[in-house]
Amino acid sequence: MSLCFFSNGFTLHSPKLQNYNFCYPSQLPISQIQLNFTPFNPSLVLPLNSSKPTKFYRKRASSIRASASPTLETPKTSFRDKNPKDINVLVVGSTGYIGKFVVKELVNRGFNVISVAREKSGIRGKTSKEETLEQLKGANICFSDVTNLGSLQDSLQNYGSSIDVVVSCLASRSGGIKDSWKIDYEATKNSLVAGRKFGASHFVLLSAICVQKPLLEFQRAKLKFEAELMKEAENDSGFSYSIVRPTAFFKSLGGQVELVKEGKPYVMFGDGKLCACKPISEQDLASFIADCVLSEDKINKVLPIGGPGKALTPLEQGEMLYRLVGREPKFLKVPIEIMDFAIGVLDFLVKIFPAMEDTAEFGKIGRYYAAESMLVLDPETGEYSAEKTPSYGKDTLEQFFERVLREGMAGQELGEQTIF
Ligand SMILES: NC(=O)c1ccc[n+]([C@@H]2O[C@H](COP(=O)([O-])OP(=O)(O)OC[C@H]3O[C@@H](n4cnc5c(N)ncnc54)[C@H](OP(=O)(O)O)[C@@H]3O)[C@@H](O)[C@H]2O)c1
Repeated sequence: MSLCFFSNGFTLHSPKLQNYNFCYPSQLPISQIQLNFTPFNPSLVLPLNSSKPTKFYRKRASSIRASASPTLETPKTSFRDKNPKDINVLVVGSTGYIGKFVVKELVNRGFNVISVAREKSGIRGKTSKEETLEQLKGANICFSDVTNLGSLQDSLQNYGSSIDVVVSCLASRSGGIKDSWKIDYEATKNSLVAGRKFGASHFVLLSAICVQKPLLEFQRAKLKFEAELMKEAENDSGFSYSIVRPTAFFKSLGGQVELVKEGKPYVMFGDGKLCACKPISEQDLASFIADCVLSEDKINKVLPIGGPGKALTPLEQGEMLYRLVGREPKFLKVPIEIMDFAIGVLDFLVKIFPAMEDTAEFGKIGRYYAAESMLVLDPETGEYSAEKTPSYGKDTLEQFFERVLREGMAGQELGEQTIF
C-alpha cells in the first residue's frame, strides 16, 4: 500500500483496493487537514480514474496522468525551457539533514516538488507522518518505500505526473555495510529507474567528496551508483546528471562545541593537522544542489564543493571554538595509532563474530575521518588541495559554532551509529 500527499489531497493505493483520491481545500493548515482524515468522509473521495474533474486534487493542470503502463512521449524541448512551476522535481532522501533543506530551497525557487518519504522518518524513525508533512510544506509528499522499486513506481503512478528531474539525498543512516549497499546503491538506483520510467531526463546526486579515496563500504556503494549514472548518460544523449560531492557538513564538526562550553578539552588526533575541510552549511549546500537542476554548466559533471573561506584543520577549529568561548585552549591530542590498534582488534573479532562487521566498519569510518582531508585530491600530486576545492555560499563555521554555543545542537544530530 502507498500513500501520496499533494498540496490539496492524497491518494491511497492498495493492491487489494481501488485507488482513491482524497481531496481537501488547499488553504487548510496541516493540523486541520489531519482532522479530515477521520471520520472517513465519502464526499471527499474520488476514484482515481473518475472522469469527473476535481477542483482540489491536482496542483496544476500541466501534469500528465500515468496509465497502467505509462507511455510517455519523448519531450521535444528540454525541461529547462519550462517555467520552474512546470518542472516536476522528485526528491528522494527528502527527510534527511540536507534533503529537508533541498526541498525547501526547490519549493522557494518555485519548482513543483514531489518528496518521497517514509511514514516514520528521521533518526530512529522519530518523525511522524504529520511532522513530515509540516517539515516539507509546499511540496507534494509521497509516502512510499525507496528500497522497493515496485512500490516506488506504484506510488509515482498514483501521483499521476511525469517527472523531469530526480534529486537524490538518500544515504544510509547508519553507515553499516549492508545498509550502505541497500540505500546508497540500491535505493538510489531505484529512484533512477523509477524516475526514468516517468520521464526524468536529469538526475542530481548528493554524493560525498570522500569517494575520491574509497576505503569504506558506503563509499564503494556510492561509487558504483555514480558509475552507473554516468553510463546512463553516456548511453542516452537525452539524459544528464550532476554529481555533487560536498566536503564536511557543519553537523559533523559540531560534536565538541557543548563539551568545550562545559570546560572539557577539545579532542583531536595526532597534532590536529592530519586532515582539513571546507565546511558547508545545509542551506548553502541545498542552494548549490538546487542550482544543479537548471544550470547548464553543471550538466554531466562531478562537482566537488566546499563552503566559504579557507580550509580548516581540527586544530584551527578547536582554536576558533576556544576564542568564541573566551577561554585558553585545552587540547587532548590522541595518537592515531590508538585507532589503528582498535581497528586491528575489531577486524580480528569479526573473523570470530561476523555479526560485528558493522562495528568494525564504524571503527574504520572513524579512522578515515580522523586522518583524511575532505578536500579535492589532486591527481597530479596525490595530495589534498584546498586551492582546488571550490567554495560556495556564505555561512561560516564560526557563525555555526556561535549558534550552537547559544542554542545547542538541536537539528544537527548525527546518524544512528552508536560508536561515532
Ligand atoms: N556528514 C558529512 O559531513 C557529509 C559530508 C559530505 C557528504 N555527505 C553525504 O551527504 C549525504 C546525505 O547526508 P545527510 O546527512 O543529509 O543524510 P541523512 O540525514 O542521514 O538522511 C538520509 C536520508 O535517506 C533516507 N533513508 C535512509 N535509509 C532509508 C531507508 N531504509 N528507507 C528509506 N529512506 C531511507 C532518510 O530517510 P528517513 O528520514 O526516513 O530515515 C533520509 O531522508 C550522504 O550521502 C553523505 O555521505 C555527508
